[in-house]
Amino acid sequence: MSTKKEIRIGLIGTGLMGRTHSNGYNRMRNFFPELEYTPVLKAVCSRNEEKVRKFADQWGYESIETDWRAVIARDDIDAVDICTPNNTHAEIALAAAAAGKMILCEKPLARTLEEAQTMTDAVEKAGVKNTVWYNYRRVPAVTLAKQIIDSGKLGRIFHYRANFLQDWTISPDVPQGGDATWRLDVDAAGSGVTGDLLAHCIDTAMWLNGGIKDVSAVTETFIKERVHQGTGEVQKVGIDDACLFHCHFDNGSLGLFESTRYARGHKALYTLEINGEHASIRWDLHDMNRLEYFDHSDESIVRGWRSILITDADQPYMKRWWIPGTIIGYEHSFVHQVADFFESLGTGEPCNPTFYDALQTQKVCEAVIDSANTRSWKDTDVQWKG
Ligand SMILES: NC(=O)c1ccc[n+]([C@@H]2O[C@H](COP(=O)([O-])OP(=O)(O)OC[C@H]3O[C@@H](n4cnc5c(N)ncnc54)[C@H](O)[C@@H]3O)[C@@H](O)[C@H]2O)c1
Repeated sequence: MSTKKEIRIGLIGTGLMGRTHSNGYNRMRNFFPELEYTPVLKAVCSRNEEKVRKFADQWGYESIETDWRAVIARDDIDAVDICTPNNTHAEIALAAAAAGKMILCEKPLARTLEEAQTMTDAVEKAGVKNTVWYNYRRVPAVTLAKQIIDSGKLGRIFHYRANFLQDWTISPDVPQGGDATWRLDVDAAGSGVTGDLLAHCIDTAMWLNGGIKDVSAVTETFIKERVHQGTGEVQKVGIDDACLFHCHFDNGSLGLFESTRYARGHKALYTLEINGEHASIRWDLHDMNRLEYFDHSDESIVRGWRSILITDADQPYMKRWWIPGTIIGYEHSFVHQVADFFESLGTGEPCNPTFYDALQTQKVCEAVIDSANTRSWKDTDVQWKG
C-alpha cells in the first residue's frame, strides 16, 4: 500500500492547458516517484457534460463536474487547478482561497492589475499554497540559463531582449470571442499579446535578470473590427495585436521586448538573449533543448557561440528522463512544474512563481498598456523578490 500523501486535484477547463496539466500529473507520478506527495485526479470540470466525461476517461479523472463552483464546494478536493480563460481566473481563485484550497492558476494571473492584487491578497490572507503556470522557467535550457547567470559567469548584465512571435490572427475573418477565439475578446482576455505572450517573456526576464523598473511601449491593433461570436455582430477589437516595449531593469540593464500575432511564418517563436560583460546566452523555443552560450574568456582562436544540447544528467531535470543525446519537449515543462509543486509541499517552500510573483508580472503588463495608451514612460512599481 502507498504511504504517499495524496493531494486530490480538481481541474477546471479541458482545453490546451487542461491537457498539458493532466499529462503533467500523470507523468510526474512515473518520473518523480520518490516525492512524498502525489496527485490524485479526483475531478475535472468543463461546461459540456459529454465532452468533460470523455476528457475524464481519457486522462483518468475519477469524477466530473459541469460547474466550477461544485468543484470548490467538494470536501474531497485539496487543490484547484485553473485552466480556463483569463476572465474566470479571479472569480475561481477567490472562491477557492475562501474554501481553503491550494490553487494552481494559469497565466496571466488575471485580466487586470486590480484583479491580480485582489487574488494575491486573498491567497495570502487564506494562507493557501499557490503557484502560477509560467512554465517556461522549467524548460531545462532556461533553468540552466538561470544557474549560469546566478553563478556570475556573465558579469554585469547590459542587455536583455525577448520576442514572442505568432501569425494566427492575420486574416480579418478570424472572429473574436467564443470558445476558440476568446483571446481576441478584450473582456475575456484582458489584453492581447501583452497578457498572453509578453507575460511569459516578462516572467522569465525578471526571474533571470531581476525586476523591471519602468517601461515605454507601443501597441497596435491592426484589424480594428471583427465579428464577435457571442453577439454575431461586427464589433470593435479591444486587444493589442502587437506590442513593443523597452525598459530599465533594477540592475541597470536595458530590456527590449516584442510580441505580435502578425509575424507571418512564426507559430510560437519565443526567443530570449542576455548579454553580459563576460558572456552571453540565447535560447529559442523552436530549438528548446539547446542553449547557446558565448564566453569571452575562451581562447580567441576558438572563441564563438557554443550550441549546448541540454540532455545530460547533470543538467536541470534531465536525470529524470532518457539518456544523454535524447531530447524532451514542451509538455515536460509542465511535468517539471507539477513535480516542483509537489516537492514544495514536502519542503514547505513556496512554489515559484507564486501569485505574488505573477502579480509583479501583471504590474509590468499594466504599465506597458498604460504607457502605450498615454505615449509616455511608466514606472512599474515592481517589488521583485527573486
Ligand atoms: N502556460 C502556458 O504556456 C499557457 C498556454 C496556453 C494557455 N495558457 C493559459 O491557460 C488558460 C486556458 O487557456 P487554453 O489555451 O487552455 O484555453 P482553451 O480555450 O483551450 O480551454 C479553455 C477551457 O476552459 C473551459 N471553460 C471556459 N469557461 C469555463 C467556465 N466558466 N467553467 C468551466 N470551464 C470553462 C472551456 O470549455 C475549455 O475547456 C488561459 O488563461 C491561458 O492564458 C497558458
